[in-house]
Amino acid sequence: MSGFTTSPGTRDILPPDAGRWRAFQDVFGEVAASHGYRYLIPPMFEDLGVFLRLGEATDVVTKEMYDFEDKGGRRVALRPEQTASVCRAFAQHRPVPPWKVWYAGPNFRYEKPQQGRYRQFDQVGVELLGPCDPDADAEVIALAWGFYRRLGLQQIALSVNTLGDEGDLQRYTAVLQAYLAERLDELSEESRATLSRNPLRVLDSKRPADAAVVAGAPRIVDHVGDGARAHFDRVLATLGEIGIPYAVEDRLVRGLDYYRHTTFEFVSTALDAAHVAVGGGGRYDGLVEALGGPPTPGVGFALGLDRTLLACDAEGCFPAPDPSVDVFVVDTTGGREAALVADELRRAGRSADRAYEQRSMKSQMKIADRSGARVAVIVGTDELASGTIVVRSMKSGEQRTVARSEMVGAVAAFLGGAA
Ligand code: HAM
Repeated sequence: MSGFTTSPGTRDILPPDAGRWRAFQDVFGEVAASHGYRYLIPPMFEDLGVFLRLGEATDVVTKEMYDFEDKGGRRVALRPEQTASVCRAFAQHRPVPPWKVWYAGPNFRYEKPQQGRYRQFDQVGVELLGPCDPDADAEVIALAWGFYRRLGLQQIALSVNTLGDEGDLQRYTAVLQAYLAERLDELSEESRATLSRNPLRVLDSKRPADAAVVAGAPRIVDHVGDGARAHFDRVLATLGEIGIPYAVEDRLVRGLDYYRHTTFEFVSTALDAAHVAVGGGGRYDGLVEALGGPPTPGVGFALGLDRTLLACDAEGCFPAPDPSVDVFVVDTTGGREAALVADELRRAGRSADRAYEQRSMKSQMKIADRSGARVAVIVGTDELASGTIVVRSMKSGEQRTVARSEMVGAVAAFLGGAA
């Protein structure tokens, strides 16, 4: 019988990588908190209907949803993203706006697995519900930008666009539909299939067969009304004032149907696969209402952990945190002393590890070395008999024998000083 391995598109995130993921989420939490966002944990699965609002013609809904009927006969789906869940939570709990929340965790999309594209993938993100203020759009973009900088990333390019307001988008969609309908023969089969449901998805097509038609398509920018134009101009002005470089990309419609007004995407120019976004977001006025809540504008973004960490690798920044403990306890008297000494050190606030199964001194020192501990404390039969302990710097080999009652202080001196 052969053993089991992970399903396609899923991975074990092993140590030390898993520590890096955790640190990534912690740093994101700090940055989000510094902008007034609070942590929210939406459920991993929801009524399928919640996610159908992402768009009937989106790949996320039509091809990639992990949906199934549960044992109670409910049609549920693993979340493919978390914006819809946050809006559903807002509609359900009716918090006082502005509601500023951040989240972190896995999402599920049945995609073709490849580097940077998985079926279970983690995101961190924020959502700001309540204000329809262009400063809110600029603030969430600035938050993401500040976070990339905190990670040490320098080669991030920001694209922004506006889809106009609801009316603008409807008018533009009709014009686009008419344009595409006249060129049906020149479109790929997939685009012909999605055209009647949402022509914007054709604009989003990366298929070579669609390239010529897409290139000649009417532009959103020519259909954006004065109100939405003023909103967008203010977003751009604020980004300029706070020193965030951007490029206006008028084909940026994004892959989900709920966007209105501002959309944006971050690409790492350090990664080979051009145009693989490390993050994206935008404004989604109307989504809360569509999920049964009061009319409530919203804006936010999500960043993919996998891809952002690939970008960090490419730029050589944000390494995995050092997993080493402070102290390794070596006990050649049978192991009981190791248990007591390690416990005492941990109570004193030191991280400490030990060996098991009564290994030889040599073998324990080898394990101590591998552990990366800066200090070893060593108990042998002589020390046990005399109530002392040896404290040794793993780096310099310098050591002192101290009374057992002075161990914690001696360890502190070694860790703080010449150790
Ligand atoms: P999204 O563009 O679908 O937007 O995903 C955001 C980011 O998640 C992407 O830029 C990418 O880094 C990562 N990502 C997406 N799919 C995968 C995958 N299969 N494997 C690895 N990484 C992936 C959203 O999800 C929206 N909810 C963002 C948002 C929040 N808009 C407003 N608020």
